[in-house]
Amino acid sequence: MSLANQVKQAFRNAFNEEPAFIVRAPGRVNLIGEHTDYNDGFVFPLAIDRAAWIALRPRADKRLLALSLDMQDQREFALDDLRRPAEVDWDGYLTGVAWSLQERGYALNGWEGVISGDVPIGSGLSSSAALELAAARAFYCVSDFEWDAAAMTLTCQRAENDWLGVNCGIMDQMISAAGVEDRALLIDCRSLETATAPLPAGTAVVILDTGTRRGLVDSAYNERRAQCEAAARRFGVKALRDIDLPTFLEREHELEPLVRKRARHVISENARTLKARQAMDRGDADLLGQLMIASHLSLRDDFEVSSPALDAIVDCANADAACYGARMTGAGFGGCAVALVEADEAPAFSERTAANYQAATGHDPALYVTKASRGAETVYAAG
Ligand code: GLA
Repeated sequence: MSLANQVKQAFRNAFNEEPAFIVRAPGRVNLIGEHTDYNDGFVFPLAIDRAAWIALRPRADKRLLALSLDMQDQREFALDDLRRPAEVDWDGYLTGVAWSLQERGYALNGWEGVISGDVPIGSGLSSSAALELAAARAFYCVSDFEWDAAAMTLTCQRAENDWLGVNCGIMDQMISAAGVEDRALLIDCRSLETATAPLPAGTAVVILDTGTRRGLVDSAYNERRAQCEAAARRFGVKALRDIDLPTFLEREHELEPLVRKRARHVISENARTLKARQAMDRGDADLLGQLMIASHLSLRDDFEVSSPALDAIVDCANADAACYGARMTGAGFGGCAVALVEADEAPAFSERTAANYQAATGHDPALYVTKASRGAETVYAAG
């Protein structure tokens, strides 16, 4: 049964009625442009065909009642008395979005509904952004405000930063809000302007889940951010986005060695991401693949956010004749890689790469071909 039908069926069972709305918001995979978003730079993700789903109906009393099928759990809150959670739990994303919307002046009505999703949690495919955007879309359905993708993006990012205390950039929320079917989205993380690009003809995107998860991501992430900010301060600019590669090469001696490596990654990655757009515009799969390979090496050696499992799965993928290029994707240290492959060969590539990776590492991977999907949307509205 599709997830749409599952949440619909569970809603009927719980509330003895048809839902008034069904909404969904997708997870994402980033093709290129990693650890650039919080440097005001460029990212190139696509919204994937895995999403968070909510079937819901409005409530008259400014309360929210949510049933999670995946957590087998139920929570209820008053929208005018939200409590910041002591630790991040699934309902913290709901209260966070409600809090953040209200902070920005949106007048919210309540809703009750059933939530489920198929973005694997903690794998680096942004299951949290998907849940946040789905919650925002649910509030939009029952309240009286305009849906603006950039405003919803900033609102959901604020929920994550200031309610849940997770210091993420803008990419995950933006692509979940603004994804376009069959297109990757180049996002300028300073202006939030976007441009779409189709994948080169005859190619497919494969997600390679290493089957490993790392708990230390948060502290390493914050440390990288601080190093990038230190480099920008040293160069006297607002963010590393403002330094191009030639300027960096002239001035890199001004930075101490570790900060220099971090800055080199961000600045070269921004250049690669803009080049990737040209590659996509020209349908040049070879060039796009080469840029992805270079991105991985930069993340591994200069930014130091890869892991042995990520390196192993990327090496297995790149060794396959059907692969144009593969790299780690997301924050790093575990989770997923992404590969651009010949579309016809994608299933066979996935089988071969899974077997080779398993033999090399003993980990149990999950590989799947993905399709670029639409961002947050109302899939069904009664009447
Ligand atoms: C995480 C963050 C994003 C981004 C990536 C790295 O997914 O949530 O904002 O910084 O890491 O590119």
